[in-house]
Amino acid sequence: MSVEALPAPVRTGFPPGFVWGAATAAYQIEGAAAEGGRTPSIWDTFSRVPGAVRNGDTGDIAVDHYHRWRDDLALMADLGLGAYRFSLAWPRIQPGGRGPANEAGLEFYDRLVDGLLEHGITPVATLYHWDLPQELEDAGGWPERDTAYRFAEYAAIAARRLGDRISTWTTFNEPWCSAFLGYGNGVHAPGRKDPVDALTAHHHLLLAHGLGTAALRAELPAAAQVSLTLNLAAVRPLTDAPGDLDAARRIDGLANRIFLDPVFHGRYPADVLADTAHLTDWSFVHDGDLAEISRPIDSLGINYYTPTVVAADPTGSAPRQDGHQGDSPWPADRGIRFLPAAGSRTAMDWPVDADGLYELLVRLRDDLPGLPLLVTENGAAYEDYCDPSGDVHDPERVAYLRGHLGAVRRAIEEGAPVKGYFLWSLLDNFEWAYGYSKRFGIVHVDFASQRRTPKDSARWYAQVMRTGELPD
Ligand code: FCB
Repeated sequence: MSVEALPAPVRTGFPPGFVWGAATAAYQIEGAAAEGGRTPSIWDTFSRVPGAVRNGDTGDIAVDHYHRWRDDLALMADLGLGAYRFSLAWPRIQPGGRGPANEAGLEFYDRLVDGLLEHGITPVATLYHWDLPQELEDAGGWPERDTAYRFAEYAAIAARRLGDRISTWTTFNEPWCSAFLGYGNGVHAPGRKDPVDALTAHHHLLLAHGLGTAALRAELPAAAQVSLTLNLAAVRPLTDAPGDLDAARRIDGLANRIFLDPVFHGRYPADVLADTAHLTDWSFVHDGDLAEISRPIDSLGINYYTPTVVAADPTGSAPRQDGHQGDSPWPADRGIRFLPAAGSRTAMDWPVDADGLYELLVRLRDDLPGLPLLVTENGAAYEDYCDPSGDVHDPERVAYLRGHLGAVRRAIEEGAPVKGYFLWSLLDNFEWAYGYSKRFGIVHVDFASQRRTPKDSARWYAQVMRTGELPD
């Protein structure tokens, strides 16, 4: 009698050692904009420009994390967070963007990092989450090459002080947004609108990543991990028609390969250079820059929210629906139509589509074999409110997270080396040009009283982190 093979057990969990975290960024939560020696960043300036940020909101107070960090740490510990991704504010650590370090700024992060470690939470630091010291913008900002050298100096200061306790460092968060929203369509700080400035800024941000990586390596213990976080686009052509495929190639170039090729292969993609040749000859790329930019890094962070669907637009008249406010941030996007993916929408009007995250992760598995991947941001904004009994029910967010974590697990099962997941965001916060009107937190913040209330999604995520399994 033959013994029937038992079916393989269904795998529902995440691998042992998988890192469970949540993310925030300095300007979005800290507040205390003029305390402890901090000087203005481009976001302090930009948020004061009439009409730049919804309701005229600023990060002056934000969610007052600078003063409430102990309570926020206790919240993280209660949730059972394994790791916390946060950013260091350059204008706190090195006011004005050059010169000596500011002791009070460093002390704030010292205390935070020590507190995280005391609670057994791994600190994961991002050096730049969009808050360039205003003085450096006044000197030309990211389109100015010297800004990259200033960044490397700041990276060294931070690593020298905190490198004995922080083992994972990210140079930049979403440099695409800094370049193309900051200098392209001007929807983000510093609010400049020039496609050539955007492309020049893009190159200098990458140069700063390379120089910063070298500076970090020089200061950090050999085992430290250096990473970069990109908001890569899950680009899909609407159909297989040649025009739609070409639109997808062009946007894949401007969103993805314009980063991945220089960082991992030391070259810019020839098709992107050709597509943008009417704007610039790229002479801002100097000899040796690409060698600097392609210094090896230890992992890649991916931020994902929604996919990008494109098609040919022969008439050039279709409204752009790529989830970005304002004019087009894409240089050289004539003849391309952006459409929303199918599916329900979040409060950002971003379609919910977890397959896009899966598609990105398996693509990176194939394109960058063996490179550890981290999902460094993923989450959703909804219209959350505290009900009279003091609860915040956010079933849509739970469904969003469940779907996207399912996509991560599927990618892992198919060999994508995804090592961790950081939910965006721990707390409701200042959502850039949307001000306080969009809530991404798993912890609700009453912005008037600063009261924190864990939402249902926080309890749900706590269970996922505790068990390493997705509940039904
Ligand atoms: C990302 C940013 C993050 C947050 C989310 C919603 O682009 O990195 O700060 O605003 O979007």
